[in-house]
Amino acid sequence: MEKIFINGGARLYGDIRIDGMKNAALPIIFASILTGDKCVIENLPPVKDVSTALDILRSMGASVRMLNKTTAEIDTAHVAAGISPYDLVNRMRASTYLIGAELGRFGWAKVGMPGGCDFGVRPIDQHIKGFEALGAEIFIENGYINARCPSRLTGSSIYFDISSVGATCNIMIAASVAEGTTVIDNAAREPHIVDLANFLNTCGADITGAGTNMIKIRGVKKLHGCEYAIIPDMIEAGTYMAAVASAGGRLNIRNIIPKHIESISAKFLEMGVSITEYDDYITVSSNGRLNRVNIKTLPYPGFPTDMQPQVAALLCTAEGISTITEGVCDNRFRYLEDLRRMGANVSADGRTATIIGVERLSGAPVRSVDLRAGAAMIIAGLAASGTTIIEGIESTLDRGYYDIVGKLRQVGADIKRVQVSDTDAIRMVN
Ligand code: EPU
Repeated sequence: MEKIFINGGARLYGDIRIDGMKNAALPIIFASILTGDKCVIENLPPVKDVSTALDILRSMGASVRMLNKTTAEIDTAHVAAGISPYDLVNRMRASTYLIGAELGRFGWAKVGMPGGCDFGVRPIDQHIKGFEALGAEIFIENGYINARCPSRLTGSSIYFDISSVGATCNIMIAASVAEGTTVIDNAAREPHIVDLANFLNTCGADITGAGTNMIKIRGVKKLHGCEYAIIPDMIEAGTYMAAVASAGGRLNIRNIIPKHIESISAKFLEMGVSITEYDDYITVSSNGRLNRVNIKTLPYPGFPTDMQPQVAALLCTAEGISTITEGVCDNRFRYLEDLRRMGANVSADGRTATIIGVERLSGAPVRSVDLRAGAAMIIAGLAASGTTIIEGIESTLDRGYYDIVGKLRQVGADIKRVQVSDTDAIRMVN
């Protein structure tokens, strides 16, 4: 088991380079199945979810070659439907994209029920509604989602009851090779939806309107391979903004699209953090003392739920009382218990957390209960007095952040990743 040790109090100065966006890379990797051809995908973040997605493709017969750390050549000519290994698929929510890709290419799919972070109930009813509208029959049996369409999928009009990133991606993937036109109403508008549409269009699809709440997909007979580069990860960028806001200092956060982080920047400015925007980077500086704010997470362009734990950690030491209302997920406050171990005065009632700012947090042993919660523990630890020890990182943080410890250490944080053996002997690995 590995743990992260942080001695709080060091300010952060320097440059951090942001990797490609995990939540754009995953649907694009799975959508490459549709092409039955060679795709070269650049700017893939070297994180566990991406390697799991590539392993799933390999297990289905794809040839995957890493041309360098962030570029994969994926040839899906020999992929077969219905054989993705349950234990790999079960590790992440994004494996549901296999349904859209396999249905589109083979007319059937059999995919294990997806896993992913535990935010309470995470149904896939909108995905199913969309596939059924395209003419597929869906049933769940023995832990597998089975999808079948005897002839080619048929374009249709679909109104989603909620704005769902996953359902929008999945239906866009399947509908891109359906007979006729599909219109998705109340579509999700996140930048990764636009990235997926751009990838599919580069492969020969005909998709317009991505980035608005109505997407039109004119089905084409076949897609072909392409070369494509993934957009930068706005949540990774937001996480380092939170890190410097917490610890104090000045960071240049490079390789980003500033427009994607507008809602995050707006809240940080309200907290008293200074942000200067350039073409593809921002400079963020803070003296570590922050104002209270109220935040409600919403689908894009609202404040992202994937930044909710990181800002909660920040607000623990802000002046006054802040509230955070979770407008996307059912239950995303499990990590508050760990912030309380560090002396935070936080409570949650349903979907709203109340945070009463305290002078300072104190380091403690805490858990990383999900991907962004792990990042929140780091952000809390950077400003806390004493040592914070975070466990549970391999199955959470590693899924979505590449070398967060190395990147923070390079800008001055006193942070280490340590391997703890069964007998509790500690070996430095970083
Ligand atoms: N929902 C339904 N029915 C559906 C689909 C979703 O009720 O058919 C509900 C979910 O239960 C959830 C809400 O709608 O409460 C939003 O779900 P959505 O489908 O938008 O999210 P997702 O596709 O499951 C992606 C990201 C998450 C991110 C959410 C929201 C990927 C692989 N995951 O999940 O990312 O929190 O969108 O923006 O893209 C993360 O990166 O840490 C992460 C959890």
